[in-house]
Amino acid sequence: MRDEKRMAPVERESGPGGTSQAIEALSTEDRHFPPSEAFRAQANVADPDVYARAAADPEGYWAEQASQLDWFAPWQTVLDWQPPFARWFDGGRLNVAHNCLDRHVANGLGDKVAYYWEGEPGDRKVITFSGLLDDVRRCANALKALGVGKGDRVAIYLPMIVEFPVAVLACARIGAPHTVVFGGFSADSLRDRINDAGAKVVITADGGYRRGKTVALKPQVDAALADGACPSVRHVLVANRTGDAVGMVADRDVWWDDLVPGQELDCPAEPMESEDLLYLLYTSGTTAKPKGIVHTTGGYLTGVASTFRSVFDIKPDDVYWCAADIGWVTGHSYIVYGPLANGTTGVLYEGAPDFPDPARWWEIVERYRVTVLYAAPTAIRAHMKWGAQFAQKHDLSSLRLLGSVGEPINPEAWIWYHHHIGGDRAPIVDTWWQTETGAIMISPLPGITDLKPGSSTIALPGIDAAIVDEAGKPVGPNEGGYLVINKPWPSMLRGIYGDDKRYRETYWSRFPGRYFPGDGARYDGDGYTWLLGRVDDVMNVSGHRLSTTEIESALVSHELVAEAAVVGVSDPISGEAPVAFVTLRDGSAVSKELGETLRQHVALKIGAIARPKSVMFTPDLPKTRSGKIMRRLLRDIAADRPLGDTTTLADAGVVDLIRDASRSGKEE
Ligand code: PRX
Repeated sequence: MRDEKRMAPVERESGPGGTSQAIEALSTEDRHFPPSEAFRAQANVADPDVYARAAADPEGYWAEQASQLDWFAPWQTVLDWQPPFARWFDGGRLNVAHNCLDRHVANGLGDKVAYYWEGEPGDRKVITFSGLLDDVRRCANALKALGVGKGDRVAIYLPMIVEFPVAVLACARIGAPHTVVFGGFSADSLRDRINDAGAKVVITADGGYRRGKTVALKPQVDAALADGACPSVRHVLVANRTGDAVGMVADRDVWWDDLVPGQELDCPAEPMESEDLLYLLYTSGTTAKPKGIVHTTGGYLTGVASTFRSVFDIKPDDVYWCAADIGWVTGHSYIVYGPLANGTTGVLYEGAPDFPDPARWWEIVERYRVTVLYAAPTAIRAHMKWGAQFAQKHDLSSLRLLGSVGEPINPEAWIWYHHHIGGDRAPIVDTWWQTETGAIMISPLPGITDLKPGSSTIALPGIDAAIVDEAGKPVGPNEGGYLVINKPWPSMLRGIYGDDKRYRETYWSRFPGRYFPGDGARYDGDGYTWLLGRVDDVMNVSGHRLSTTEIESALVSHELVAEAAVVGVSDPISGEAPVAFVTLRDGSAVSKELGETLRQHVALKIGAIARPKSVMFTPDLPKTRSGKIMRRLLRDIAADRPLGDTTTLADAGVVDLIRDASRSGKEE
């Protein structure tokens, strides 16, 4: 069990910035890439006046966007804002699955491809909009047969197979909020999320494929549910993927192939209130307990559908590929809901980018003639490391737009992406947003905005962003500050599931009345936004959020660990990487093996992405006089940088001890 009591309070970082060297490089970056005349001429949004129009009447602008969806009943009010609680399109009724599927089929797009799916071993499927609609109806009826009704929560823990979007949309169809848990998370993490959400059914698979091997999922579900640990769960629906032997618990577990294909096709889409819960998605915050981010129906769909159209400049014949996992918000908003709401053809790929070799992505782009590619900087940097020769072997001329998401993209990676993948022709949209924002907030509009490598440029129409100092006053150009959002927007989170107090405190207390995302930023002289990284105890590892406190909590749950502190250090591929400082209980011997055991222990408790890059054993941790761990100092030590001011240290000698230990005893 996690034991938070044994942990020392942790020093809060007080200022923005303080991240990687990549940031320093940003300040000298002033190359401009204006949209080409050819791109501008065909762009969905080409009139710069859209910003002023939306700023003058944001509610009118968002109502216009919402009216492009199919509503069963019209809304009465666009926005009801009782800070920090927003209600959008109140009185309106709609169904998200209907908007993503039925209306396109009704409009004659039934035979259009919804997804080209490719499994890692090379198996392929083509799913049309009408085929997907049928699968979703059957799956929705299967969920009903398992006792799931409107309002019941369903946990989804799947690899990137076709059943994933089917399961998500089936939940939306019957008004059962889903909570997707990324397949890389451990049984412990899965259990916590299932229990917080009170899920009635878990949808999983026997396993999935990753780098040529199968990765078990069902056994993790069994471990999560063992000994009655998840009392809300009645059934587990298991998709057949790897064929690996798994145990099935009588009366609880049922194979997808035994239940779903035989279901009736008749399954009307449930009319949902605009503010009904669509899904929960857990994300890391500054404490050990992940937050269940609440997204509702009408505003969320409006936000993702509208931004998908404008940012990716989507046309009816585009083939769009977001190379993320549906387990993260990027996949929710821009693999499933945004693209399908626009009737767009997408690509789904199950596996690793370098299996069987690093040409895999480029092979996929060529095979399906992908026109728009959306990926994370960490993946771009990995491709840079593998080399451009893999891309050069393939015809990438179909690509007309590229996207980046999840972390700041360093100019070097931007230029490589632009040149080697985009053929110096495709604009890059660097999109800043979060699990909490639901949809893209700051990004170029590719037919309007001049691009600068490394800048996510300016807030989208209808989004009112600012950069402020500690006192909430706007800062001048090139002065770092805190990013804030001044006004509510339709796809914003509606809260933290079951914890209004934490919702208020986390996002709305630092700058009352304004949303505080936890990022530092600066504007340059042209008013362009440069994100400077998190200002709290959250790390960004390969574009995924990890809480330092959560990793510390996992470490101290090991019987030999007395105390632990975790910091993020800059890493050439993953952006940041966790490094752990550990003090052992009296009498425990330091060894290389123990370092490895502790790294594994974290992977087991949270998931492989949280495994520390290194563990440093220290006789003590540097603390302020009030007993707070000095993370800033640990970061300097981990990065082997000169130490800053140490005068608040309780025992200055500790620093030397730690530094010696870190020089001689880094456990890789
Ligand atoms: O720090 C920002 C960073 O990722 C955080 C959000 O993480 P998550 O909720 O997991 O969502 C990731 C995918 C939307 C932000 O607070 N971040 C995300 N996109 C960018 C970014 N930082 C800089 N530039 C971006 N484009």
